[in-house]
Amino acid sequence: MTHTKGNAMSLWGKTSKVQGQFTKGTLVRSLLPVVLLLIVATAATAYFPRSGKAASTKPSTLVTPGSTAVDPGPRPLPANAGSFLGSLSANEKQIEPTITTEFNRVHDVIVTSPVDGGLGPRFSSNSCASCHAYPAVGGSSPASNPLFSVYTLNGAGNTMPSFITSSGPILNARFINQPGTTTPDGNVHPLFTVTGRSDASGCSIAQPDFVTAAAQNNLVLRQVPPTYGDGLIEVIRNIDIVNNMNANQTIKQQLGITGHPNHSGNDGSIQRFGWKAQVRSTLLMSGGEYNVQMGVTNETFPNEMDQTSGCVFNPVPETVTNFTPGILTELFPGDAERSEYFIQWLAPPTPAPSTASTRNGKTQFTNAGCVYCHTTSFKTPPTSRPALGNITINLYSDLLVHHMGPGLADGLAQGQAGPDEFRTAPLWGIGQRLFFNHDGRTSDIVQAIENHFSLGNGTYPASEANQSVTNFNAMSSKNQQDLVNFLRSL
Ligand code: HEC
Ligand code: HEC
Repeated sequence: MTHTKGNAMSLWGKTSKVQGQFTKGTLVRSLLPVVLLLIVATAATAYFPRSGKAASTKPSTLVTPGSTAVDPGPRPLPANAGSFLGSLSANEKQIEPTITTEFNRVHDVIVTSPVDGGLGPRFSSNSCASCHAYPAVGGSSPASNPLFSVYTLNGAGNTMPSFITSSGPILNARFINQPGTTTPDGNVHPLFTVTGRSDASGCSIAQPDFVTAAAQNNLVLRQVPPTYGDGLIEVIRNIDIVNNMNANQTIKQQLGITGHPNHSGNDGSIQRFGWKAQVRSTLLMSGGEYNVQMGVTNETFPNEMDQTSGCVFNPVPETVTNFTPGILTELFPGDAERSEYFIQWLAPPTPAPSTASTRNGKTQFTNAGCVYCHTTSFKTPPTSRPALGNITINLYSDLLVHHMGPGLADGLAQGQAGPDEFRTAPLWGIGQRLFFNHDGRTSDIVQAIENHFSLGNGTYPASEANQSVTNFNAMSSKNQQDLVNFLRSL
């Protein structure tokens, strides 16, 4: 069987025919050397993005020893996430409507009120909720790509980059080097500009040249991670992350699992947000997202990313704390801070009730070794905002970054996360997710597991997850399926 479905195919093109022709058991064992050769050949020609191929034509889909498990698909709505923590105080609860409004707000260019405007000059979308949308506001990409209703809004003259498709994931674009140079870049290059919009007359700037960037293997794509439970992830103590890293050393060594934190350059604490754990706090993330995704300058990031004259329409920062006497307390402080509370106070996703299959699947998740990166739980410490403290949270991540091999490597280092390293993706809520891996390359959760497998090459070491994927592929069909059912129950 092939594990790649429609969405992924339209995004990345067809997967190799070889993939999926293997059944498990003795056949797999006898074919293993052949398969490994194929993996080498595939990895050498098709890995992403440093291959000779454009990122938009075909990143890696590694040929794997195979699994018989079938992704049952995302659990249907209603959403298993999207509500606030029930334990917030009455005073905190009173601002829930306004922080929800803020996260959903569609930004135009001109600042017309203390809470409005600020879009551009460059942007990838015009509201937090447009990208963080599914299965409920705060989540990840929805099935139908919302960027198609954003890119030409109000007369904007943008063209849609080829890697954004109507049924594919919302993606951010970064460049490894500044275009046409060997000077490191690494920044997000927003997809669109306000040029042509009726509220941006006089501005004339071009979209980034993504075609050339892709052709030069300079393009790095990232999909939208969900924000549910981020306030709880934020308060986990550094020392608990380190102690968990140091636990179970014998078995981790047998599995080839190491991993390390991505420390903040500011206070040395362990960063935990973003695909490479490159951001420390919900406040930094919110402020950064206003500026990077929408071009809305704020008190944390007060600088327009593009300062071309004729394209800057508002004084900076475009959203600030509002001191007008008598203003509703709910409109204090600024937009970025209110969206910070939104992402900080969202409750974690609720898993489905367990079944015999998912209970066995959870055991197999440990047996395969997945759990030595995807740590089942952390306990939050006592906190000054009591709703966040003293809770055991089942995030399924160690919040460390790991070498994931050439197959997943994106060639871009961020802080102490190397070009082939990624944060162990938290798996809570994955039961309703539509796209997987940092670049959203597959919609099939079984393929997402197989994508962990990648042999080393001259540039990058092998994936630390190779042994656990091998263990998974060697399990009985029933155990494999139960493990996948367990994932889809989260
Ligand atoms: C154009 C789509 C888009 C918009 C608009 C957007 N985001 Fe994001 N968001 C992303 C992507 C892509 C990432 C992953 C970034 C990375 O790791 O490089 C992300 C990451 C995050 C994360 C980190 C989640 C985690 O657990 O790692 C948070 C929190 C977040 N965004 C909040 C916001 C807020 C608040 C807004 C509005 C100000 C916003 N986002 C607007 C696409 C978007
Ligand atoms: C060496 C650490 C490690 C091990 C072992 C590991 N994972 Fe992961 N997992 C990761 C990382 C890192 C990512 C993010 C990969 C990326 O950037 O695309 C991830 C991503 C995932 C995803 C997709 C999440 C998303 O948000 O797209 C799933 C599902 C998953 N892992 C399941 C498993 C299962 C099942 C196993 C055991 C068979 C396993 N993992 C073993 C580190 C690990």
